[in-house]
Amino acid sequence: MSASLPDLSGRHVVLGVTGSIAAYKSALLVRLLKKAGAEVQVLMTPGAERFIPPLTLGTLSEKEVLTEIFPENEEGSWTKHVALGQWADLFVVAPATAQTIAKLAHGFCDSMLTATALSARCPLLVCPTMDRDMYRHAATQDNLERLREIGYAVMPAEHGELASGLVGKGRMPEPEAILERGAEMMGDEHKPAADRASDSDTFPLTDTEVLVTAGPTREPLDPVRVLTNPSTGTMGYALAEAAARRGASVTLVSGPTTLDPPPGSEVLHVQTAEEMNEAVQARRDTADYVFMAAAVADYTPADPSSTKRKKEDTDEDLALHLCRTPDILKTLGAYKRPDQVLIGFALETDDALENARHKLEEKNLDWIAVNNPTEEGAGFGPTNRVTLLRRNGPAEELPLMPKADLAKALLDRVLMSHQEQG
Ligand code: C5P
Repeated sequence: MSASLPDLSGRHVVLGVTGSIAAYKSALLVRLLKKAGAEVQVLMTPGAERFIPPLTLGTLSEKEVLTEIFPENEEGSWTKHVALGQWADLFVVAPATAQTIAKLAHGFCDSMLTATALSARCPLLVCPTMDRDMYRHAATQDNLERLREIGYAVMPAEHGELASGLVGKGRMPEPEAILERGAEMMGDEHKPAADRASDSDTFPLTDTEVLVTAGPTREPLDPVRVLTNPSTGTMGYALAEAAARRGASVTLVSGPTTLDPPPGSEVLHVQTAEEMNEAVQARRDTADYVFMAAAVADYTPADPSSTKRKKEDTDEDLALHLCRTPDILKTLGAYKRPDQVLIGFALETDDALENARHKLEEKNLDWIAVNNPTEEGAGFGPTNRVTLLRRNGPAEELPLMPKADLAKALLDRVLMSHQEQG
């Protein structure tokens, strides 16, 4: 392996190649991935074969390139796309044409590439590559936005001279840049599929629906002012990602955050507590596990103004009339199915355990994770220290750790207990 390349030994990369003149660059990408130590499976759309022969990519990757979802020999296995989706640690589509982007955004499944993308549980990276006006067309931009919403990473096209002779955005990023981004996306915590399987084998979440809420809510005072809180959404996003990695079908209801959508989750964006309530209650009947990690506002302005409130020309203070928001979790608790697991989060600055235990009972929860935001490293930052309380069970103090690790630790505990009972 070359010194300047990331170490991808043992990693499995699926590379989707679609019908663009830039497909020649994917040969270089395959070489780089292989040099970095990755195993590479190339999938081509039928259109891509007009630009670069499968023999080239097959030879470089040392694996037969796959195109059709149905095998030529009818007796062969047609579930290869599912196996590949499980095998992959990273799925890159480079170059990604407007056509394939549209198909991915809408769940089409008409080639080995699109079928495998639907089966994949790993991070997906799409590199849009097309002519300038196709790239900036509202339909393409909408489709790219949809891909981001459903958890795909999109690497923006580069500016430069295009095959048509036009100059603008539409070029495929250089293979080195794609390799770097892909390696980042796998990261240290994205272990090879073989190791990851051992996590999910112990506490898998296949055929399971997980609903997660995250982030703050924003309660409008008028069109330009809101009441909100400093929640970043990190805990909920980490939980959504960890659950999707174990095979769950995850819906993340998110208040406003600056985070990228976690891979493998459907993300529903909301602003207010009322909107979050609607989104959550609409899913409550089918959810098996609900992690209510959002910092939901308890109060909202009773009478938000439809025009910007003017500052009065007096020195008088302004009194706001606030009314209660719906308690989303309490409503879930009231309608809870016996086999449904509800997990709440509580920020407590005093009498933490007593208050949290009270909430656990009052809201009919199975678990509550409580933390004190005034403690060093706990609360709104990248790390947290929580005590996990279980209904009719003991409290467990977990050490200070990054929220991604905490998400895994919480899942392990909840799933272990549920599987013991189940
Ligand atoms: O009552 P408290 O706000 O401390 O309870 C915290 C838990 O309740 C969190 O899981 C939070 O997401 C949830 N909650 C809710 N609806 C509210 C307020 C809090 O679901 N209006």
